[in-house]
Amino acid sequence: MSTIKACIFDLDGVIVDTAVYHYKAWKRLANELGFDFTEEDNEKLKGVSRTRSLELILQWGDITKTDAEKEELATRKNKWYVEMISKMTPDEVLPGAMEFLETCINAGLKTALGSASKNSGMILEKTGIAHLFNAIIDGNKVTMPKPDPEVFLKGAEALNEAPGNCVVFEDAIAGVEAAIAGEMKVVGIGSPQVLGAANLVVSGLNEMSLEKLENL
Ligand code: BG6
Ligand code: MG
Repeated sequence: MSTIKACIFDLDGVIVDTAVYHYKAWKRLANELGFDFTEEDNEKLKGVSRTRSLELILQWGDITKTDAEKEELATRKNKWYVEMISKMTPDEVLPGAMEFLETCINAGLKTALGSASKNSGMILEKTGIAHLFNAIIDGNKVTMPKPDPEVFLKGAEALNEAPGNCVVFEDAIAGVEAAIAGEMKVVGIGSPQVLGAANLVVSGLNEMSLEKLENL
């Protein structure tokens, strides 16, 4: 029998598809610096913090910058990203996400957000789903990026549940690793080839059910 009492959800790629906005903003920055990167490269940025993403992109362009310059570049990218997410609507919640959150809540499970993003507040507000979470742990509340388990452990703590009673939903390899490091169950959202370390992999929350949760 399952001991699951709480569900912790990553945001980007699990509840909303913001990867395309991150991609557009990073690509604009790279183009201004005189180079480009592919959508395939962009996959490597999923789940990765803003600072680390910038470092990877500068490496791809073979560009060296001082810490102060990096700070300015990350701020510039974030300004463009925020311009895009400020126009998001409830339609942009991924299929089945809202329904599965409501299913969990109706079944008496607690819910938390566990995201690396410092922009989660705006995304939740624009898509109208903030009320579906008992706790929100995001990039503003953690110091260690995934695959460190800090974000999920803080989520479990905020929900007052032991990590072993929590299941994490994640689309990024770093996030699956973080959940495992936190000794939690994890459902991968995406491809089994990429997220094979998860207890279960589904293509989206529209494929989830309470039965699948109980059988983890
Ligand atoms: C993660 C995204 O959820 O948040 C990453 O998958 C992103 O691509 C990271 O870099 C940080 O987001 P933000 O909104 O704080 O720049
Ligand atoms: Mg994600």
